[in-house]
Amino acid sequence: MEIKVASGDITTTKTDAIIVNLFEGVERPSGATGAIDKALDGAITALIKQGELRGKFNEVSIIHSLGKVPARIVAVAGLGKQSEFTLDKIRMLSAELCRALRKLNCRRIATIVHGAGSGKIEPGAAVQAITEGSLLGLYTFRKHMTEDEENHEVEELIILEKDRGKVAVLERGCYVGKIISEATNQARDWINEPANYMTPTDLAKVAQKIAKSNGLGVTIMGREQMEKESMGSLLGVAKGSCQPPKLIVLTYKGNRSSNSVMGFIGKGITFDSGGISIKPSENMAEMKGDMAGAAAAIAAITAIAQLKLKINIAAVIPATENLPGGSALRPGDILKANNGKTIEVVNTDAEGRLILADALAYSVKRGFSPLLDVATLTGACHVALGDVCSGIFGNSQALIDRIVKAGANAGERLWQLPMYDEYKEQNKSDVADIKNSGGRFGGAITAALFLAEFVGKTEWAHIDIAGTSMTEKQHGYLVKGATGVCVRTLVNFALSSIG
Ligand code: BES
Ligand code: MN
Ligand code: ZN
Repeated sequence: MEIKVASGDITTTKTDAIIVNLFEGVERPSGATGAIDKALDGAITALIKQGELRGKFNEVSIIHSLGKVPARIVAVAGLGKQSEFTLDKIRMLSAELCRALRKLNCRRIATIVHGAGSGKIEPGAAVQAITEGSLLGLYTFRKHMTEDEENHEVEELIILEKDRGKVAVLERGCYVGKIISEATNQARDWINEPANYMTPTDLAKVAQKIAKSNGLGVTIMGREQMEKESMGSLLGVAKGSCQPPKLIVLTYKGNRSSNSVMGFIGKGITFDSGGISIKPSENMAEMKGDMAGAAAAIAAITAIAQLKLKINIAAVIPATENLPGGSALRPGDILKANNGKTIEVVNTDAEGRLILADALAYSVKRGFSPLLDVATLTGACHVALGDVCSGIFGNSQALIDRIVKAGANAGERLWQLPMYDEYKEQNKSDVADIKNSGGRFGGAITAALFLAEFVGKTEWAHIDIAGTSMTEKQHGYLVKGATGVCVRTLVNFALSSIG
């Protein structure tokens, strides 16, 4: 879908549908909605009086114009209570509207900017949110379906502004929103792709393609190089699979006058069967999405490069399958990680922390700082926080606070969990420096404490997206399947880092 900003009058716009809006409790619409009401001979006011149109949040009311305005359909969007209006509501509502109008066979849609007037939202940000909500909400993954979709695609969304002078600011919001949501949808595609179409080698190819089209540096390490680099922990996980593991490093240099490079580390398990500590077969298919952290890191660095941000970033992706082949890692095995620490593998299903251990230690050696890792790490995090927010941990409160803020801005919630020393007892091994599982209780926390052993003093934060990376049901701009969570948080964090 194309999205553009134009200056014009909504009452004379010739698209299939036009979108106006209404706050809850408003009896007489004003502004653009008022103008449309007038053109429709007071239809909107009448529907409000009859109690059909209430302006409740997410209410989408369809009015057929029958020639009174050029557009076939007038959609009235309920904005909810004016005092409770937020940017994220604009995203959710835009998704709802676009999907409703797609069902009604609208190919070209025009909308006014929600919230910029009496909603008191900064107009550029409002347009960015409309762009994001629309593109994210219309996402589908139909690549492997051979039959045509019933619904036509929405081809064009025009964001209308009466005042010509404001268009430039709005265009910037639209541009940023497009880059961020296209990157998010790209991440969703990679995550939704089944494991037979997204092996570690496929993921490396994706990274190479991305690097080429966005001018990024890329290096891909194979088994041999990992051996040279002493990545025993990542290699250990890879042993059970015929698919060769890859360590992918993408670099973006947007600030030549600085030596500091921020590291995004993404868990790239392209399929997690659990290994010898095999998972139950029910829902195992979901584990094709165990590379959602990798997808977020690659998509984020792509968007950051496209936005030409003045910052240096490296995305480090340890990628492998976790399978129970004949040469697989066994419970009880001891591995040596990149920083020399030994790890007793008590559960081969706790593989994420094993591959991240090497990727984090390697990133520290390369001098990347701060480090932000994103991983579908623990079922325990899903149990603790559900699918409403991701868990965040780290060794720097200031860093965590900045990431949480960046997430909130993007409509992605992060909730900090503690890392008290007492939990470390659970990770103690009788035969090695540490063991890879601290048991059931506080599982998200002991996993984070395990990772902390591989970052030394480098500023680091860890985001556990096990509960948020996939959704069972459509909700706002999230559609069933991969959510692409954390792409927007990482991009916003980079934006906030350049001031
Ligand atoms: N990839 C899983 C975590 C996961 C679970 C992600 C559900 C998304 C949805 C991870 O590798 C795993 O298996 N973790 C184990 C750790 C345990 C063995 C210590 C878990 O959470 O059960
Ligand atoms: Mn696992
Ligand atoms: Zn896993």
